[in-house]
Amino acid sequence: MYPERPAGIAFGGDYNPEQWPREILEEDVALMREAGVNLVSLGLFSWALMEPAEGRYEFGWLDEIVDRLHEAGVAVDLATPTAAPPAWFIRKYPDVLPVTREGTRIGFGGRQSACSSAPAFREATARLVRALGEHYRGHPAVVMWHVHNEYGAPLGECYCEHSVAAWRVWLKATYRDISALNEAWGATFWGQTYTDWAEIDAPRFNHTVVNPAQRLDYARFSDGQHREHYALQRDLLRELTPGIPVTTNFAGTVNCKSADLWQWARELDVVANDHYLQAERPDNHIDLAMSADLARSVAGGAPWMLMEHSAGAVNWQPRNLAKRPGEMRRNSLAHVARGSDSVLFFQFRASRFGAEKFHSGMVPHAGTGSEQWREVVRLGADLRKLAGLRGSRVRAEVAVVWDWESYWALELDWRPSVDLTFRERMDAFYEALWREHVTVDFVHPSTDISGYRVVVAPSSYLLTEASAKNLHRYVEAGGNLLVSYFSGIVDEHDTIHPGAHPGALRELLGLSVEEFHPLREHETVTLAGGGTARIWSERVHPAGAVAVRDFATGPDAGHPALTRHDLGAGTAWYLATAPVTGLREVLAQVLDHAGVSRPRGLPDTLELVRRGGHVFLINHGDEPVTVEGVTGTSVFDGVRHEGSVTVAPGAVTVIAPTP
Ligand code: GAL
Repeated sequence: MYPERPAGIAFGGDYNPEQWPREILEEDVALMREAGVNLVSLGLFSWALMEPAEGRYEFGWLDEIVDRLHEAGVAVDLATPTAAPPAWFIRKYPDVLPVTREGTRIGFGGRQSACSSAPAFREATARLVRALGEHYRGHPAVVMWHVHNEYGAPLGECYCEHSVAAWRVWLKATYRDISALNEAWGATFWGQTYTDWAEIDAPRFNHTVVNPAQRLDYARFSDGQHREHYALQRDLLRELTPGIPVTTNFAGTVNCKSADLWQWARELDVVANDHYLQAERPDNHIDLAMSADLARSVAGGAPWMLMEHSAGAVNWQPRNLAKRPGEMRRNSLAHVARGSDSVLFFQFRASRFGAEKFHSGMVPHAGTGSEQWREVVRLGADLRKLAGLRGSRVRAEVAVVWDWESYWALELDWRPSVDLTFRERMDAFYEALWREHVTVDFVHPSTDISGYRVVVAPSSYLLTEASAKNLHRYVEAGGNLLVSYFSGIVDEHDTIHPGAHPGALRELLGLSVEEFHPLREHETVTLAGGGTARIWSERVHPAGAVAVRDFATGPDAGHPALTRHDLGAGTAWYLATAPVTGLREVLAQVLDHAGVSRPRGLPDTLELVRRGGHVFLINHGDEPVTVEGVTGTSVFDGVRHEGSVTVAPGAVTVIAPTP
C-alpha cells in the first residue's frame, strides 16, 4: 500500500521546525512552495515535546505545524518518536538503557537509548503511539506513518537483563526441547551442554571465541526484537487509522548488517530506505545503485521510497566531503531510476545546534543564495516532470543472492581468512555488473528465481539444504548460476555440510574442494591465460565440471580456478578466487552464454537504467557520452532524439518513449 498523496514523485525530507523560533515556519513554507516540496517527515525525535511528563501528551505545538503545512499543500509523514526517549523517562526507568556486548550500559544524551525488549519501553511506546494515533486520526495532512528511525542502526544487539529474559523465551519457542538446542549449537564442543534454559546467557564478550551458532541465533533474535517493537506500533496505528500506510526507514547499505530486510519488508506497507554516500570512496554512486536495487528487491519490485539522503555533506564520516555540482541531482535521479517514488532528504533546514549541525540540509546555513538551494529548486522542477513514472517498475534479467543470515555467519570469528567478508565479494560482483550496464535484483536463495537468466552467488557461505535444492532446480530448468568461493559451506546453525566442501553445492557445481589455500595479505596468484587474483585459492577437483581456467601460480597452480558444469538445461559456473581485474570478463562470459542483452561499447562511467519505458542515462564521467539505439523525447528539455543521445559530463538525461 503506497501513500495516496502526494501525487507524482514525493519531494521533501525530515523537517524539524521545533528547533527554530516559531517564525521560521512561514519562511520554510514559502521555501517549500518555491522548491515544490510536497512531503515532510515530522516529529522524528520529539518524544520530549510530545510527552513532557509521564502520561501528559501535548500535541498543540505540532498541530500548528501540521495545519500550516496542510494549508500550504505539503503532506505529512508523521513519525512516532520512539528513537529518542526523553530524559525523564530514562531517569524513571534506567533499566531500559541498552547494554553492549562488552557489558557497558550506555548513557543518555544520544538517541536510540532504549532496548526494544524492555517492558517499560514497550509499554510507554504503546501509550504514546495510541495517544498520537488518536490525536491525528482523520487529519487530512497525515498521509503516512513513520515508525521509529533506522531500527538496528546503531543499536543492533542489546545484552541487558530484559534481552536475556526475552532471549530465553525465544529459544524455548524455537527449539522447544533443550536437547534440540544443544544439538543445533554443537554444544558438545568445548563442553557447553545445557541442562536448563536458565543456564543460557546472551553470547556476551568472552576472552576467546563464543559459540558461533549461539551468536548467529542471537543476531536473529535481536533483529526480531526490533521487529516486535515496530509491529506493536504498526498494529496500533492500523487499528486507529486504517488505510494510512505505515513504514520505518531502513539504513541503506552503509549500516544495514543487523536488520534482515527480507523479513522486515513483509511487515511494512511501503519500503522506505535511507542512503548516504561514503564520501571518500571512489565511484560511490555504485554503492548508491546497490542500495537502491536492494530496496526495490526487498520491496518485491514494488515502488519504494527514498526516505533520506543528503543534499551535500554528512557530518559523521572521517572527512565529510561536500557534493560536487550536479552530484545531488545525479544521486536523486539514480534512486528514481531504480524504482524510488520519492526523493527525500535529511533534512529540510540545516540545524544550528546539536550533534548534526555540520550536516547539510536542503536549506543550508548559507541560505537560499547558495548553489545548493538552486540545485534543490531545480531538482523539484525535474521531479515534477517525472510524475508519470510513479508506480512503474524496473525489470532485471540478472539476480544476485543476498542473505543476511549468511552475512552474519560469514563474519563471525575464526574464519579461514580475515579477508572473507560479505561485502567484499558482494561489492566486487555488483560493481562488475554495474560496469557491464546490467541492472540486477537481489534475491534470497530460497525464493523463486526461475525468471532470471543469470543468478550470481557471491560467497554464499551459509546455505540451507532447501536453498541449495532451489538453486539446483533453477539450473536444471535452464538457469545460469555463477558461484563464488566459500559458498555452500555451512547450514543454518553454522555447521559444516557433511563431506568435502562445498557440501551444499558439490553436486550442482560438479566438483569438490580438497583444501582451502587462503592467500597472504597483498599476495597475488596468476591465472592461466593472464590476469591475477587475490584473497583466495583452493584445490578444486572437478567431478562432472570442466575446468575453464586454471591457476598458473600459487598453491593450486595447474588446478582449476574457474569451472563450468552443464546440468540439465542449464549451467553452473564456479569461480575459486578473487580476480583483481578479470571479474568483468568472467561475468561477461556467463552473461553472453545466457544471452543477457546489454548495451555494448559504453564507458563504465555511464549509468543506464530502464524504468517504465523510460531510459535514464546518468553520466558520472568527465567526458560527453553518446548512447546509440535510443529514440524518444528528453523529459527535461523536450528535445526529440532519433537513434542516439549525447549526455554531457555530469548530466542526467531521461528519455521517454514516443507515444
Ligand atoms: C541517518 C538518520 C538521520 C540523520 C542522518 C544523518 O542515519 O536516520 O536521523 O542522523 O543519518 O546523515
